[in-house]
Amino acid sequence: MDLFDAIHERYSYRGALLPTPVPRADLERIAAAGLAAPSGCNAQTPRLILVDDPALLAEAAQILGGREVLATAPALIAVLIDAAPEPTYEGFAFQIEDCAAAVENMLLAVTALGYASVWLDGNLRVQNRAEALGALLGVPADKRVRVILPVGRPAGTGARREKLPYTDRYWFNRYEARD
Ligand SMILES: Cc1cc2nc3c(=O)[nH]c(=O)nc-3n(C[C@H](O)[C@H](O)[C@H](O)COP(=O)(O)O)c2cc1C
Repeated sequence: MDLFDAIHERYSYRGALLPTPVPRADLERIAAAGLAAPSGCNAQTPRLILVDDPALLAEAAQILGGREVLATAPALIAVLIDAAPEPTYEGFAFQIEDCAAAVENMLLAVTALGYASVWLDGNLRVQNRAEALGALLGVPADKRVRVILPVGRPAGTGARREKLPYTDRYWFNRYEARD
């Protein structure tokens, strides 16, 4: 799939996923797309756990509140960053940005391969879910699960969110310049 088609076809899918397993070769392609993303000072901080064990998936779905997309996901990708990110440049840490760049690359790869996903982050921050999921997946104390991406073939079509007109959100040369 063309890159621009993948960008415009990607959307957050929260419906049921088909039980068809995701081949590990596809999970690894998606992971490689994520890990090829830019990172502050090329520190390459994100770490990924590719989960395809049905027993772990079932426990993870429970920890994360049993949403349909998680309860049916044949695979998920847990994106980890450090629990206490160290600054890498002039006192600034970039691990959240590194993580976001990797996640977006993975979402585009997911779309290009015909899978569906959704960026789950807020979901992880409540009720100590990140900690519980970390314990399930053997994550060491100095790392934290920051984002979860369920991955699978969509069983239906989800609701697409409206975007503001793009031309209302960019300008040439000066803020809000129309000419
Ligand atoms: C930083 C971030 C955190 C997000 N966290 C969640 C989440 O916890 N649960 C969820 O259902 N969607 C989450 N999303 C997905 C957004 O709700 C979604 O991208 C937005 O509504 C726009 O829809 P679209 O992805 O279909 O374009 C998150 C997206 C981002 C970028």
